[in-house]
Amino acid sequence: MSEPLVLGIETSCDETGIGIVRGTRLLANEVASSMDEHVRFGGVIPEIAARAHLEAFTPTLRTALETAGVELREIDAIAVTAGPGLAGALMVGLSAAKGLALAADKPLYGVNHLVAHVAVALVDHDAASSPLAPNTAALLVSGGHTEILRVGSLARDVELLGSTIDDAAGEAFDKTARLLGLGYPGGPAIDAAARMGDPKAFRFPRGLTMPKFEGTVQSPGKHRHNWSFSGLKTAVARAAEQFEAQGLAVPTADLAASFQEAVVDVLTAKAVRACQEHGLTSMLLGGGVAANSRLRELLAQRCADAGVELTVPPIPLCTDNGAMVAALGAQLVSAGAQASSLEIPADSSLPV
Ligand code: KG4
Ligand code: ZN
Repeated sequence: MSEPLVLGIETSCDETGIGIVRGTRLLANEVASSMDEHVRFGGVIPEIAARAHLEAFTPTLRTALETAGVELREIDAIAVTAGPGLAGALMVGLSAAKGLALAADKPLYGVNHLVAHVAVALVDHDAASSPLAPNTAALLVSGGHTEILRVGSLARDVELLGSTIDDAAGEAFDKTARLLGLGYPGGPAIDAAARMGDPKAFRFPRGLTMPKFEGTVQSPGKHRHNWSFSGLKTAVARAAEQFEAQGLAVPTADLAASFQEAVVDVLTAKAVRACQEHGLTSMLLGGGVAANSRLRELLAQRCADAGVELTVPPIPLCTDNGAMVAALGAQLVSAGAQASSLEIPADSSLPV
């Protein structure tokens, strides 16, 4: 088969994403977000997200097919996120994908959302310039996940090296912004507030690191490459309370900058260390937190110092979208992977 024409469907959280690729070439990437409906709750409400997917699915699919200039019958395969994510949200995309696959008689590929975040790096790259050299590290940081992966081959060799043991990095941004009264989603708000603050004003904890190694950020044992962000949020809350108790103005910008520095310091230090320990010389950054200006700056610096080549896809491709699912689907088709059964379930905690 020449380059496969693949439709990708993503509904794991609050974005209804439909992407179409031919091999690695991007033909359409339509995203409808229900974020506006979640803002007043300060977080994604699963029931609202699922209903929004149901409403947005058909118009988003139509627009994607029109933009790509293809008809459903021309598509070679349908790829869909099977997990991890919100169960009800996943079920909408998966049910729709099964219906399309059955009606149009196309093979269905249920894919892992995290691996799809990595596959997006291939979009609009030819094989010679592919950022996915064999054995690439992928640092994925969003509101729902925080992982470091080793990617040997997208089709069959992906290993989880480390992850958060509690809050996701984006979740920590969102919760901390909320307690500082900065609104939701919190990442962009903290990023902006931090520009006016001093990142050294407060020394907040770097979770799962050993105090005696502070500054070098090490933690041996099973949490070597893992993160923890829940204590950090509490530390920011305690610091703010001390100012309030004394009737003093809360130094929001300094707290935001110091919080952001703590997250970014431990994220980048552990990601680079994982590369060094696993002999990985390239890294890909993905997820919504990839938009963070300080993360991009410090990760670029630390990767350069360690001789690790860093790739950051354009932000619209870093956040949840259908093109990443389509890109992974195309890799699976090209690798001759077996299609999924039409009975494939949604798995909210699908492992890589
Ligand atoms: O990938 P994404 O759009 O959705 C999922 O969570 O899957 O990521 C959204 C997350 C939110 O937690 C948001 O606060 C965070 O990404 N985010 C940021 C920034 N922009 C978005 N976090 C830190 N700094 C930013 N500039
Ligand atoms: Zn995601």
